[in-house]
Amino acid sequence: MTNNESSLLVAEGGKRTFHKDLTVPDPIPAPAFGRVEKILQSARLFRYSGPTAEESETAMLEKEFAEYLGVKYALAVSSCSSAIFVGLLSVGIEKGDKVLLPAFTFTAVPSSIVHAGAEPVLVECDDNYCINIADLERKMIEHPDAKVFLLSHMRGHVSDMGRVVELCEKHNVILMEDAAHSLGNRWGGQHSGTFGKIGCFSFQSTKMINAGEGGMLATDDDDIIARAIIYSGAYEKTWAKHITVSEKVAEYQNQLPAYNVRMSEVTAAIARPQIPIIEQKGARFRHNYFRLANILNRSPHIDVPERVENEVPVPNSIQFNLRGMTRERIRRFVDTMGQEGIKIAVFGLGEDNARCFWNWRYTDASNDELPQTEKMLRTACDLRLPVYLDVEDIDTMGGLIVRAIDYVTTNMKNRQPAS
Ligand SMILES: Cc1ncc(COP(=O)(O)O)c(C=O)c1O
Repeated sequence: MTNNESSLLVAEGGKRTFHKDLTVPDPIPAPAFGRVEKILQSARLFRYSGPTAEESETAMLEKEFAEYLGVKYALAVSSCSSAIFVGLLSVGIEKGDKVLLPAFTFTAVPSSIVHAGAEPVLVECDDNYCINIADLERKMIEHPDAKVFLLSHMRGHVSDMGRVVELCEKHNVILMEDAAHSLGNRWGGQHSGTFGKIGCFSFQSTKMINAGEGGMLATDDDDIIARAIIYSGAYEKTWAKHITVSEKVAEYQNQLPAYNVRMSEVTAAIARPQIPIIEQKGARFRHNYFRLANILNRSPHIDVPERVENEVPVPNSIQFNLRGMTRERIRRFVDTMGQEGIKIAVFGLGEDNARCFWNWRYTDASNDELPQTEKMLRTACDLRLPVYLDVEDIDTMGGLIVRAIDYVTTNMKNRQPAS
């Protein structure tokens, strides 16, 4: 890009028009600071080192998280990936079993399946980033031995859960949800992550709860929670320091391996004060998302797909599909936005995006033919919308994106098709 081209977008005086740094995560609420300090002073950073469950930040986080979701049990772990891994083992996944999952997700998800010794089977996704229901049923029929469907609500896009649950029941497949991006999202009035046997959540910094790292497994099942607690690293009756625990846990003591993927007290102390603000953050995310979507949809080259019916989303990022643009124009668009301080990624544009299934070379599934998902990934854009953005920021971003698209589609020669 020449300076002349870029100055079509940047403000007078050659300065960037957008000033907030979108790589900064959502802020940590003030009460977390005091709690962390108290833990540091006590030196009791290990979840089982305190005298009682009620005095453990981790056990209390599990209780409050379960109450928020309206489930019986929650188990705090080191990450959402750990929750998925432990969850797969807890529902009975064994070496060589097949696990269905969307072809559009983050590499950590198929990795957890591989870690559990299972084989990922990818299912097509639609242009709205949700699971393709027809392909899901096709894959269930093609792989009658698939035990689990692990549905990632990727980037917080929750699929038609009525259809998903119906298909899992019809084909006798256990539903697990990867709700890493969808904490607070409801479909048909019900929390995402509570439709299947297990819901898995992430507290990594770009998620609804920012604790740096951390994850949560949620379930109503007495047996699953007992197994999961042992797998996560409870030993010698340390499970007595859990509040959301079933009596069955004693049966599994010393019967299952302990993978030690527990959460630390510091992480729990940072996460806990964020539960009461989920609804407030969710409302702000929704407002910003729909305002930006309206602006972007004015461009003939942008399609922000309609959300699925019955979904109340909590989107802390926006995805949109570029239409009728060459690969070169898409690249130029991304570069232009980068110069403005707005980092937009097109999933399938670079060499190594971890959300493109063809880059998951550790599994044979990366060679699968998934034309629909591939086509979507080649032109789908991804943009973070952290909670500190205000209406003015959203309008500035929307205006810049539309102008940049306008510029690259009218001022560049068409050379190479996008897909
Ligand atoms: C869709 C999805 N699922 C699962 C994970 C794994 O989360 P964690 O980093 O907590 O292991 C991620 C990570 O960003 C993700 O994007």
